[in-house]
Amino acid sequence: MLIFTRFKWEAAVLVRAAAFLYFPISCYAADIEAGKAKAQLCIICHGPGGNSVIPEYPSLSGQPAQAISTALFRFREGNRKNPIMSALAADLSNADMNNLAAYFSSIKRTTTYQTQAENLVIGPELANKYNCTQCHGPKLLGLQHIPRVAGQQHEYLIIQLRGFKAQTRSDMDGNMSSAAANLNDGDIAVLADYIAGLADRPD
Ligand code: HEC
Ligand code: HEC
Repeated sequence: MLIFTRFKWEAAVLVRAAAFLYFPISCYAADIEAGKAKAQLCIICHGPGGNSVIPEYPSLSGQPAQAISTALFRFREGNRKNPIMSALAADLSNADMNNLAAYFSSIKRTTTYQTQAENLVIGPELANKYNCTQCHGPKLLGLQHIPRVAGQQHEYLIIQLRGFKAQTRSDMDGNMSSAAANLNDGDIAVLADYIAGLADRPD
């Protein structure tokens, strides 16, 4: 605390952010069992194992751990705002976030969503044309802090893509708002329909 008082508030937040983002790699072994225990609250909304059954609520399963912990951190610090998640993240420590991220990341993503036949052809074309695959990976499975979108909830995808385009959804580096700026409503409908179907069927 004494050290932090020398910094301006912004600098202190940056230092905390940096420490948090590098912590998992350097010296902290995330505890999946502790994450699972803590996740009992989360699965009320995010579904069993983080496979959401509510169209507007995102799945967390199979998401890169760093994308989950980064999102939680940004909710807690007020960079990303949502009435529900901002309130919940306020009570989470960095260790809680890493444990929750490790747990949800370890679960297989499933979906019952069926993509329309024509979008199985147009969808991949648009995902290449608009560089979605450049950042989110060839199969849209995400990488490090970049979220997995494959098999994400259909309504959630539409809401977020519209939000990035309108610049109402916060964006850590502006990349996603730039990517969405060129999409029209038709593109968003095709991409969301295609991407939502990209996961395993439940057993
Ligand atoms: C009352 C319902 C509710 C509960 C409980 C809840 N969430 Fe959420 N969560 C949401 C909603 C709604 C969103 C989408 C917010 C948005 O649109 O930005 C969300 C978003 C998220 C995201 C961002 C996902 C993404 O793909 O960007 C993460 C990570 C997350 N929640 C983790 C958790 C964790 C961990 C818990 C348990 C500690 C939890 N949530 C509990 C409703 C909930
Ligand atoms: C230059 C890199 C880049 C490109 C290109 C890009 N994205 Fe993203 N995308 C990101 C990053 C980084 C985030 C996380 C933004 C944040 O939460 O601050 C993101 C977030 C998202 C989200 C929200 C995910 C969630 O769980 O909340 C969706 C949906 C998405 N991207 C879809 C797409 C689609 C569809 C395309 C192609 C039209 C695309 N992205 C192109 C980097 C990119």
